[in-house]
Amino acid sequence: MRILGIESSCDETAASVVENGRVILSNVIASQADEHRQYGGVVPELASRRHCENILWVVKQALSDAGLTIDGIDGIAVTYAPGLIGALLVGVSFAKGLAMMTGKPLIPVHHTEGHAAANYLAHHALEPPYLGIIVSGGHTRIAEVLDYTTFRTVGKTRDDAAGECFDKCARAMGFPYPGGVHVDEAAQRGDASAFRLPKTKMDGNPYDFSFSGLKTYVVNYLHNAGQRGEPVNTDDLAAALQQEIARTVTDKTIAAAKALGYHTVALSGGVSANSGVRNALSAACEQNGFAFYMPPAALCGDNAAMIAAQGYYNYLAGITADESLNAVASKELRGEAAQTPA
Ligand code: KG4
Ligand code: ZN
Repeated sequence: MRILGIESSCDETAASVVENGRVILSNVIASQADEHRQYGGVVPELASRRHCENILWVVKQALSDAGLTIDGIDGIAVTYAPGLIGALLVGVSFAKGLAMMTGKPLIPVHHTEGHAAANYLAHHALEPPYLGIIVSGGHTRIAEVLDYTTFRTVGKTRDDAAGECFDKCARAMGFPYPGGVHVDEAAQRGDASAFRLPKTKMDGNPYDFSFSGLKTYVVNYLHNAGQRGEPVNTDDLAAALQQEIARTVTDKTIAAAKALGYHTVALSGGVSANSGVRNALSAACEQNGFAFYMPPAALCGDNAAMIAAQGYYNYLAGITADESLNAVASKELRGEAAQTPA
């Protein structure tokens, strides 16, 4: 079964054809990052306009790269939530029109669930149940993936996502948008022990995250040093920041896996490209005897192959949409609201 995936939740217009949820036949991504860079972050209005300009050729390219016409597609999967509403609406409207015109099933996909599915494309042995840790620019959460379409959130960020923390700290360090990758590069040159960053303490669910305190500390530190005219070794600061984020993600994921009895852990989301997070979590999983999966770099960030992969499993589970499908800016995972631990 071949699913066409469409993704437009942020600043990537993407389309992909995936066979049986596991094999990528094409994967086209039109990134707008160069344009948003001059504003220091994504400008939502601009993102919507670019999606509108790009969506048709991106979908056409995905079909032609796969050696197919629309007749060879069995379903149209689209990211409908969460994300920038104007950006999501472009993909959703396009997918609805295409589904109506062709009579193919329309399959709604939650962006975060899509990130988790990126691992199915690279690791054919990975099957639920497992513990997912999804770390991106908008989300940070640990979730039990009970089956391909049933998720139970174990913990999530109470404020900023890890990617937001990376990006805002990167901006204060003088790196261009999106800054996470530049922090990663600088961290390779730095000495993490040169800085003592504050450790976040939280009451309640021990698997929840909070990154706003760390972000504020680093931004204020750089601001104050700048006002005093004091130089800052950004390589060392980047290394300390990366180490702290990697440690937090790793400690909480391992603790959750132990508490819930999981022996398989899968990392995904844009921040899963971070070398510190990848190394720390894979080493900790190995130490504990857990199987560990993470996507290759090309499937960490936003793409439509992961949407098509999750779309395949949604379709098998009977999750399709009719013409009333709408974009939703903020949406919990399937089953999350009822099942999140108190
Ligand atoms: O999943 P994604 O592409 O978009 C969202 O769904 O949010 O994640 C983007 C985030 C950005 O914050 C970006 O800076 C971060 O992933 N990111 C990284 C790295 N590569 C991307 N953060 C740290 N280190 C990296 N190597
Ligand atoms: Zn994403």
